[in-house]
Amino acid sequence: MRKVLGAAAVALALSGMAGVAAAQQKPDVLVKQRQSAMTLIGKYWGPIAGMASGKVSPYNADVVSRNATYLENLAQMPWDGFHESTKGEKSRALPAAWEQKAKFDELAQRLQSETAKLGQVARAKDEAGVKQQYAAVGKVCGACHESFREKQ
Ligand code: HEC
Repeated sequence: MRKVLGAAAVALALSGMAGVAAAQQKPDVLVKQRQSAMTLIGKYWGPIAGMASGKVSPYNADVVSRNATYLENLAQMPWDGFHESTKGEKSRALPAAWEQKAKFDELAQRLQSETAKLGQVARAKDEAGVKQQYAAVGKVCGACHESFREKQ
């Protein structure tokens, strides 16, 4: 009995340590990771925006479906990289990201919900739906960059 409890305690301690390890990731690494996630978001967003706006033709529903699915998953990734410990690191994130954290978090949340909707219509090969929903996603990118990203 004591042994069983011991194993459970070790398992608990180990899972706790995994959480701590993530929180103790070095600030410069966190910045690199969040920028990488954003770079990939940009990569898969580009062709969707191009095709949905008609700037790139022909419209390719398979590419849009694949990209939107990647985008939906990537949209969950950057946020833990905006940890307090990264405030002093060199990056394009403005201090407002921490000073107005509720607003920042709300936009991060909205990106996830709007890209999830985009993924749904894209996988359904609903071209009209994509053309509508891509605009909703683009608005969230723009709103967040406007308030929280340094202009180049
Ligand atoms: C909730 C805020 C937020 C949302 C939403 C958001 N971004 Fe960003 N993005 C940022 C911030 C902040 C940076 C700067 C990060 C840094 O330098 O550490 C950034 C950086 C970037 C970069 C530059 C990456 C680099 O380091 O070179 C690209 C590309 C980008 N975003 C694309 C997008 C696209 C496309 C969308 C929408 C599909 C989007 N972002 C949505 C906040 C956001």
